[in-house]
Amino acid sequence: MQQFNTIIGNDIQAAKALLQKGEVVGIPTETVYGLAGNALNGDAALKIFSVKNRPYFDPLIVHTHSISEIEKYVAEIPDKARLLMQHFMPGALTLLLKKKDLIPDIITSGLDTVAIRIPAHPLTLQLLKELPFPLAAPSANPFGYISPTIAAHVYDQLKGKIPYILDGGATTVGVESTIVGFEGDDVVIYRLGGLTIEEIERVAGKVKVNINAASNPKTPGMLKSHYAPAVPLVFGEPELLEAAKAANKAIGTICFDTAITGLNSRTKQILLSPNGDLNEAAKNLFAAMRNLDTSGLDIIYAVRFPDEGLGRAINDRLKRASVK
Ligand code: TXA
Ligand code: MG
Repeated sequence: MQQFNTIIGNDIQAAKALLQKGEVVGIPTETVYGLAGNALNGDAALKIFSVKNRPYFDPLIVHTHSISEIEKYVAEIPDKARLLMQHFMPGALTLLLKKKDLIPDIITSGLDTVAIRIPAHPLTLQLLKELPFPLAAPSANPFGYISPTIAAHVYDQLKGKIPYILDGGATTVGVESTIVGFEGDDVVIYRLGGLTIEEIERVAGKVKVNINAASNPKTPGMLKSHYAPAVPLVFGEPELLEAAKAANKAIGTICFDTAITGLNSRTKQILLSPNGDLNEAAKNLFAAMRNLDTSGLDIIYAVRFPDEGLGRAINDRLKRASVK
């Protein structure tokens, strides 16, 4: 693979020039950082898969800057999809829509739907407006690892493999977009994410949730094990915490607003939101996982978050990150 002297900067023109040459660059979004390439260029897509070490069966999300752009790439927009687009785009919403031939098969892993969204980040929206093509962008992490929420996370893991990272500061949402598809009249959620079920239901009525990879060949990337730190992470099973305590392990904890008591002095505890705000907790989740993963701990213990709002997406990520 080609080697680069990776630069971090906020120069949209530099990012644009590289993308026009078919290179891939790190880009900020409001959810997590993406690894972007020309979505209409199969070779650029191949580079994305190779930099991420991502299997080809896992399709990519296409990023555009407007609803009229989306119309260029999709064959039909169901009424409820249009409603959701009008309410939540730009935002943390990805829609699965029938694709036009213009979108290469490698982007969709051969599926006839394309995942498409408009990211709510000023730098990336500007970049998309200046480019004559949309950007395919998975999260900018090696396949299976924790998604990046600052430019330095991207640099730490992909330096040398990409020429440029567009630095747009810390992401404001902190978990990936919610993926929504349409089956007949039903609105189906395939990945819990930064736009909550409650918000979607307020606009589109009752939704179905189908986030289980085994029963859900429609979102092949939703593997059961994902977002995983190298240190074993245990999620919401108090008896496993007790066992780690009894074995005098160095425990890292991911808590909501209250620390766990009775741990030894080698403990490192992170409260995702001392004020008990689920949005703040989501924003801090992935950085906390990275922090604990590199703190010399034996085990990470994460509590279960309230099963509402962004708490659902947080629990989903922690469950996928946990050891089975
Ligand atoms: O917030 C986000 O969505 C971020 C930022 C960078 O936009 N992107 C992101 O991409 O999370 P990625 O590649 O890490 O996750 C994309 C998910 C995968 O689970 C993939 O299987 C699913 O979207 N997906 C993509 N295209 C699809 C399609 N045509 N049909 C079904 N699922 C699709
Ligand atoms: Mg990802």
